[in-house]
Amino acid sequence: MKWAVLVGGTGSNLRALLESGFPVSLVISHRSGVKALAVAQQHNVPERVILPKGYAERAQYDAALASALEAFGIEAIAMAGFLRWLGSDMTRRYRGAIVNLHPSLLPAYPGLHAIERAFDEGVLWSGVSVHFVDEGHDTGPLIAQMPVARLVSDTLEDFRGRIQTAEHQLYPRVIAAIDGGEVQLVGNRVVYEKGEQEWMHGHF
Ligand code: GRF
Repeated sequence: MKWAVLVGGTGSNLRALLESGFPVSLVISHRSGVKALAVAQQHNVPERVILPKGYAERAQYDAALASALEAFGIEAIAMAGFLRWLGSDMTRRYRGAIVNLHPSLLPAYPGLHAIERAFDEGVLWSGVSVHFVDEGHDTGPLIAQMPVARLVSDTLEDFRGRIQTAEHQLYPRVIAAIDGGEVQLVGNRVVYEKGEQEWMHGHF
């Protein structure tokens, strides 16, 4: 499968994926000048910036995205810091082949600032989630989650660092597994070739 990674931030998950040896065919950012684009360049991955401000409507933005994806023959998409919601044309077109990474144990703390909100509320556990993308916001069938403890002694940066480490471990494994057909979306159910437990809990 030819994969695109959609970015918009520091690109640490893109880096983790590339450093795991996984081939990425295209990187698209909704922001210019972000570190994620430099990560793509360092690894000789073609990159495109598609700025939202050039498009009056979301459907037009999505059409621009779709044509870039088609030009590269992209078959599957991994979201990693792309802060734009995709419309239903896009989510339907790539159904079962578009995944998102989120820094909480969904359905807790969807949306922005998930790490800060969990920290501020004093949760004892949070974590990271990978899910298939549907029409909703940070919804869609969960594929894998990895729990992360918030220790009493943690600063926000300690906690954030542990969550990011979990992301970098989990996301490349899940993407490789989807690519290899070990995990599939069948209807609304995630079907695992190797047994549900190990996947659901992020133990590999
Ligand atoms: C990650 O925390 C991911 O969970 C969220 O956006 C962040 C992207 O970070 N969706 P990076 O750009 O990969 O470093």
